[in-house]
Amino acid sequence: MTAILELSGVTRAFGERTALEDVSLSLRPGELAFLIGPSGAGKTTLLRLINRELPPTHGEVWVDGIPAHRIKPGRIPALRRRVGVVFQDFKLLPRLTVLENIVFALQVTDLKVSDKQARDRALDALEAVGLGDRGADYPAELSGGQQQRVSIARAIARQPGLVIADEPTGNLDLDTGVSIIDLFTDIARFGAGVLVATHNLQIVRRRQQRTLTLVNGRLVRDEPAGRVGKLGWAQSS
Ligand SMILES: Nc1ncnc2c1ncn2[C@@H]1O[C@H](COP(=O)(O)OP(=O)(O)OP(=O)(O)O)[C@@H](O)[C@H]1O
Ligand SMILES: [Mg+2]
Repeated sequence: MTAILELSGVTRAFGERTALEDVSLSLRPGELAFLIGPSGAGKTTLLRLINRELPPTHGEVWVDGIPAHRIKPGRIPALRRRVGVVFQDFKLLPRLTVLENIVFALQVTDLKVSDKQARDRALDALEAVGLGDRGADYPAELSGGQQQRVSIARAIARQPGLVIADEPTGNLDLDTGVSIIDLFTDIARFGAGVLVATHNLQIVRRRQQRTLTLVNGRLVRDEPAGRVGKLGWAQSS
């Protein structure tokens, strides 16, 4: 099966500093991978190359067949419609209801979607994350875990082929974090590729998914699902 995400020889420098160096990896539809590594290893930088927040200095980044590394500016919205993004701090708009947050995100990135279509998709996505009955609430009325579920609903409402998440459990307790990771596993089971950057080795160990380790901008390990052994990075650097 063709990859939903393919990085080939990717280097990203910021002036003198090299954030990523010669990284190659590939993710299939339906596959979830964790991206781990110490602070400053390059996890966020790697995710930012995928939706073209940043261009690579060298190398190729293919997303669902689109060359993100040499994309024309006019095509960037089309690329971003194929990638659902989840952040540590949820980034929900406090003055909009939960449902309106998702509808707004759908409409702002796709001017052609009708009000009815956007609403239907938003409701489906809320159902999928187990919050079908909370659409009329405001984000502040939800727990942290529930707010993260809303932000995941927002990311999957358009049914993107790829979902990327940067520390999605960083603001949550362990059990809530595990339930959020299990939701990502379900999303992968429905066919999306999912890449989750995380510091939370407890969850990574528990869930035994494919695990990519970055150290100093280099991909030093790629362990397959079910074979995640001793974790950490000191011994790999
Ligand atoms: N916009 C930028 N300008 C300059 N340097 C940057 C920029 N973004 C990232 N870097 C540098 O690139 C390296 C990788 O940073 P990155 O944010 O990708 O790490 P990370 O693995 O996400 O770390 P953390 O776990 O703390 O989130 C760091 O040395 C960082 O200082
Ligand atoms: Mg980061």
